[in-house]
Amino acid sequence: MPEKPLSSQDDLSSKMGTEFVIRFSRLLKGATIYDRNNVVMDQYAQECLQTINHVVKSEDSLFFKIVRDNCFLNNVKIQVRVDNYAIFKGFVNELKKRWIGEIEFSEMATTEHLKDFVFLISGLEENNESNYLYAEKQLGYRGIPHIHVAKLEFFKDEEIYVDSEDQKRRSKDVYFKSINLVKEVMDGIKNQRMVNIRKAKRLMQNAVNAIIQDDSALLGLTNIKNYDEYTFNHSVNVAIYAIAIGQRIGLPKKHLSHLGMAGIFHDIGKTSVPKEILNKTGKLNAEEWEVIRSHPVIGTEMVMRMKEWGELSTRMITGTFEHHLRFDLSGYPKLTRKKRISLFGRIITVADFYDALGRPRVYNRFPYVSEKILGLMMERAGKEFDPVLTKVFVNMIGVFPLGTLILLNTNEMGIVVQIQDETELIDRPKVNLLFYKDGQYMKGRIINLAEKDETTGEYKWSIVKTLDPNEYNINIAEYLI
Ligand SMILES: [Fe+2]
Ligand SMILES: [Fe+2]
Repeated sequence: MPEKPLSSQDDLSSKMGTEFVIRFSRLLKGATIYDRNNVVMDQYAQECLQTINHVVKSEDSLFFKIVRDNCFLNNVKIQVRVDNYAIFKGFVNELKKRWIGEIEFSEMATTEHLKDFVFLISGLEENNESNYLYAEKQLGYRGIPHIHVAKLEFFKDEEIYVDSEDQKRRSKDVYFKSINLVKEVMDGIKNQRMVNIRKAKRLMQNAVNAIIQDDSALLGLTNIKNYDEYTFNHSVNVAIYAIAIGQRIGLPKKHLSHLGMAGIFHDIGKTSVPKEILNKTGKLNAEEWEVIRSHPVIGTEMVMRMKEWGELSTRMITGTFEHHLRFDLSGYPKLTRKKRISLFGRIITVADFYDALGRPRVYNRFPYVSEKILGLMMERAGKEFDPVLTKVFVNMIGVFPLGTLILLNTNEMGIVVQIQDETELIDRPKVNLLFYKDGQYMKGRIINLAEKDETTGEYKWSIVKTLDPNEYNINIAEYLI
């Protein structure tokens, strides 16, 4: 896969990251020379604050992280220009000496808080691994809960985000971390523990960055259908589809990560539905349906109880509350007053329906194939689903979605691993050929169905039909990750 150039969003993050490092390091140096009330410190703090608050305002939080010698701002690597190299090197050293690897502003800060913070960092002992604990405590004592630090992390070589970032591996990392997060959140809610919203936000920012750069890797992962842990996979898949839809209709980056959060938490009310009902193989009776139908309302109450949501709450709540309401309001819960479903609600509805029907069920081992679900959605567009969003979604998933098992005119079998960006090539994806050896199917080479034979000018391969992977005992997920 050719490397994609950085998006303009990433450029911007990188630029803001540079500004942050320059201004923050100047302030940190100032703290060793001047005292707190010196006018120079005031000026440095104000400049630094401008950058911080600008980032927090547009991206919801500022998360700075050192990985080896690289700096990241909101999970985007900061590109260091030669003329800033010395500043970066000096700043990274200062933080490393104190074992601080992460700084986060989760809300807009004030000059006083920023000054408190910078004097606190500057006063930390050198070579003390537990500095971050001390600093976190101090920030708590001083009533500054919106600034956080964390310990410098050491990465094994293969985990380093190098320049030629391995998009696939990063996506996998985001995917499985998100699954764990959903698990944690659901357990937390059951046991009335605090939910780590900051972590969720950061993960969703990661997912957004991955999708903006290249959505095929993450969309491919949504094919993992593990039916024991269905709710976890499902929630993450809905988040990924929702972000991908949001990106296609041009929502700003900040809204995209909120959309991801809304996806992650849309079914949170299901934690209150007994397993016996969720996994029941037979038909549900009226009372059982009643219990299932209560999950959007219960979920909404749960989300509302989480105080840490901040300004996220409204959009999050609508996602949870409205995802079964349907476009024409024929779904549930029943409303006493007519209203219009919010954009977030409509996006989550589309994503939720597609993923829910594609999943294997306890009583239905084989999920619907994608074509059939997309067909159903087109039929019901304008009734159950927002027609425009449905169109966007169907185009996004494509005629042959990632993970489709296909038969070629050469009699070879393959799995769709990449969809072309050009609409006219939508039926000519990249395909990983399979070959049969020692009783099982193995991965062969990847071919591009858009390739033509040079002498005849004809396409080298064409898709004859799609095949059901269950019939061939093929676990698609294994081929995609
Ligand atoms: Fe639901
Ligand atoms: Fe759902």
